[in-house]
Amino acid sequence: MNAKVSPYYKIDSAPPPRRMARGWHCLGPVTNFKDGKLHKVEAFGTQIVVWQDGKGAINAIDNYCPHMGAALSEGRLEGDNIACPFHDWRWNGEGKCVEIPYARRVPPGARVKQWPLQQRNKLLFVWHDPEDSLPGPEVDIPQIPGFDDDYTEWRDSVHRIKTNTRELIDNLVDIAHFFYLHGDRVAGMCRFFANRFENHTAWQIIEIGERTGSGYDPFQPGCDINLIGDSRSETCYHGPAVLVSNVMHRIPMPSGPDDLVNSYIFLCQVPVTPDEFDLHILTTIQKRPEMTAEENFLRAEERCKWLTFGTLQDVHTWKTKTRIDNPILCDGDGPFHQLRRWYSQFFVDVADIQPEMVERFEKITDVSYSIPVWEKQQVERLAELEAAGETPIFKFKME
Ligand code: FES
Ligand SMILES: [Fe+2]
Repeated sequence: MNAKVSPYYKIDSAPPPRRMARGWHCLGPVTNFKDGKLHKVEAFGTQIVVWQDGKGAINAIDNYCPHMGAALSEGRLEGDNIACPFHDWRWNGEGKCVEIPYARRVPPGARVKQWPLQQRNKLLFVWHDPEDSLPGPEVDIPQIPGFDDDYTEWRDSVHRIKTNTRELIDNLVDIAHFFYLHGDRVAGMCRFFANRFENHTAWQIIEIGERTGSGYDPFQPGCDINLIGDSRSETCYHGPAVLVSNVMHRIPMPSGPDDLVNSYIFLCQVPVTPDEFDLHILTTIQKRPEMTAEENFLRAEERCKWLTFGTLQDVHTWKTKTRIDNPILCDGDGPFHQLRRWYSQFFVDVADIQPEMVERFEKITDVSYSIPVWEKQQVERLAELEAAGETPIFKFKME
């Protein structure tokens, strides 16, 4: 018998579950849907048509007409209703066929699914539930205080990514990739990194940078921006698909006090199929009242570009990596298994949710070993870059 290669670890990479998550999913800024047109949304293995009616309400119903299967988004609006392009059946915002011009009667049961919608922070959200239950208020997407007046308009980019949404979720506990992937071994040292999972929420709190803030409990969200060190982010998944990240930065200015930048990045995934999703990268910053509109705009351009840039590095990784069900983890890693257990609650019937999927789990990832190592690697990397006449990464191509 021939000798064997040395024993090695085999990656398990089963196909992702066919089921898609129960929860609110973001379709982008509401204004995108307020143009009087029919919008086709590919999601959850089907299509949805979204439009604004004459009363200003946004509607979302199944896109496929149950008469002979035409796409309603290819039709036209007749008043508040959609006229199907194939045989002119008329569908209202509740998904009911209200008229068939060439027939005496509308068949009973001529109804398509009406998708529940919610608007928060000028964004539109749609509810997906394989059991067809309506959402309760406890899973509402939170409203950012003062959002409507105090923040810049959303910058929105949408990326279709051929992989399963779990890749994105894993990011929430991935402490080490900030330094190696996002920071090019120069920046991104997490000096504080904590997670808390409970019910439908999963938190991550990070502090990065040389100066650490004081006068507050670092694990509690809602920190006063005036107290932070270099940077702090308070990030939370509200359900399976809406990541709300409040990113606070202290930017030293050539003269005068530091610029305290209070920004939000929403990362919202919508599965098209179990193997593909659309990622909305939405960014906004809190305006400074003493600045002109133009100054606020330029400041937002700069900061939002950086926020988006980091996510595009993740996108590149998701596009090139494999799915791994059995990652080997080390003592410097965050709680991947616990996070995946939390995420699994959205893929089972509500009656089958197990206590361990929703009970509170907390972890502050110990960085006492990593930080001195990262500092040493940083020195080495800077020397390497200098020798090569290069600057650190920050040159990622916007896709
Ligand atoms: S397919 Fe829509 S009216 Fe016939
Ligand atoms: Fe990342």
